[in-house]
Amino acid sequence: MFEGRDIISIRDLTKKDIEAILEKSEEMNKLLEQRKTLEIMKGKIMSTLFFEPSTRTRLSFSSAMQRLDGTVIDLGELKASALAKGENLADTIRMAEKYSDVIVIRHPKEGSARFAAEISEKPVINGGDGANQHPTQTLIDLFSIKKFKGKIEGLNVALLGDLKHARVIKSLAYGLALFKVNLILVSPVGLEFEKEIVDELKEKFGTKITQTNDINAGIKNADVLYASRIQKERFADPYEAEKMQNAYKITPDVLEEGKDNLIVMHALPRVDEIDYEVDKTKFAKYFEEAGFGVPVRMAIISLVVQ
Ligand code: NCD
Repeated sequence: MFEGRDIISIRDLTKKDIEAILEKSEEMNKLLEQRKTLEIMKGKIMSTLFFEPSTRTRLSFSSAMQRLDGTVIDLGELKASALAKGENLADTIRMAEKYSDVIVIRHPKEGSARFAAEISEKPVINGGDGANQHPTQTLIDLFSIKKFKGKIEGLNVALLGDLKHARVIKSLAYGLALFKVNLILVSPVGLEFEKEIVDELKEKFGTKITQTNDINAGIKNADVLYASRIQKERFADPYEAEKMQNAYKITPDVLEEGKDNLIVMHALPRVDEIDYEVDKTKFAKYFEEAGFGVPVRMAIISLVVQ
């Protein structure tokens, strides 16, 4: 079902595909809890090519591959690679394809992962392409919601922050739409979700969507509050980003106004949008969510690598 497949966009996956990956992730999570290791990637190599900063995606992919007894080669600092000599992306991919069994790529340009997949015979996994997609993060988010809430279907999920630029939000909205979730879109003025996406989610998936610029109204009926960082690097004018940075701050007081069993999620890194005081409350789930990066990526690797 998955062998040799690229994972480029959440939209390439059916609900059935996603459910299969979540099931495999649960298997991997149990193995990790029991401190068991699997040797299914023994002798296999993963290339990690990161053209944008990363902590969780790079480290958890690397950890996942090594937990499966595989190894990882990393392009490292761009200035220390042949890219500094003017080599292009296509040639870089051709080399990674020869040197490894699977490629994970993160790149600032939308469509770059799809481009890499067209060149490489080996599976390519998108670790984030510009403001477009981050499918493995979405799988982690769906897995986390299921773990924390026992189900995904029918929940009210508030997506908050930079809805215009955050790829984790765009990916997740489509993933959630497959599970018939009600979406509450909460953003500062000017950072709303693209109208075409909202229309498509409503028309194609029948998603119930409400939109607001008011954080209190946005979280009132939410079961899950999924926050995102202002994506400063994607603004034409960094000063505009600075101004937006303090538009919303999630504090324990704000959360007390919501449902008692509300949970707060975030792909991380957070900047100013979640007060550190929230970390100690029952609402905070973002670090556990980040931890699930390992079992979910173990599942993805084990399914696609031949
Ligand atoms: C996100 C990303 O890179 O899109 N981080 C992640 O992968 N966990 C979120 C972000 O940078 O805001």
